[in-house]
Amino acid sequence: MEPFVRNFIRSSLLWLGGGVLLGVWMAVSPQAILYRPAHVHANLLGFVSMMIFGVAYHVIPRFTGSPLRSRRVAVLHLWVANVGLVGLVGGWLLRPSMWEAGTAAVMTGGVVSATGSFLFIGNLWLTLGPVRRAARPGVLHSGPAA
Ligand code: HEM
Ligand code: HEM
Repeated sequence: MEPFVRNFIRSSLLWLGGGVLLGVWMAVSPQAILYRPAHVHANLLGFVSMMIFGVAYHVIPRFTGSPLRSRRVAVLHLWVANVGLVGLVGGWLLRPSMWEAGTAAVMTGGVVSATGSFLFIGNLWLTLGPVRRAARPGVLHSGPAA
């Protein structure tokens, strides 16, 4: 397993830990509902998306039989995704007490995080390669099933 794949999965697990703790905090202390966007994104952009990124970088090249288009872009994505999410989640946590600093962190973290997603989109899109019709031995054309 590539180190960046392992580190996406490690990040995902760390975000799950943080996201679940925020969830428990909201569950036991109703005024912490202010931090719901931090909980949601720690879990959905942190745990769920980072797990998908890591697993996809590992399996898509194996499914397609062609190497990942760029390992360097994938490593960059690992950093950009985590730094961006720290900005987003940190900003949402800060906002109730320090509105302006929190909002600036949410804005910056959001743009950085989104940049990471576009690195992923481009890298995997190019790894998939051109659309090709698979040759199936013994089948001349595909028609409706008999
Ligand atoms: C022990 C684990 C968790 C606890 C205790 C927890 C707790 C909570 C609480 C108290 C809320 C606020 C509900 C409200 O609006 O009144 C909430 C919202 C939410 N949680 Fe969790 N959560 C947990 C795990 C997760 C996980 C693993 C995910 C996603 C993978 C998740 C996704 C969400 C989402 C999307 C919302 C917002 C729902 C909405 O928009 O109304 N949570 N959670
Ligand atoms: C760079 C990526 C993303 C950015 C910048 C972003 C930004 C935001 C913002 C600004 C909000 C409104 C928060 C508020 O109520 O103040 C929001 C809400 C939400 N986002 Fe995202 N988001 C991103 C990715 C995602 C992804 C990938 C998912 C799901 C897989 C997601 C799920 C949600 C949900 C469920 C809510 C409603 C939260 C709630 O109930 O309070 N977001 N997002």
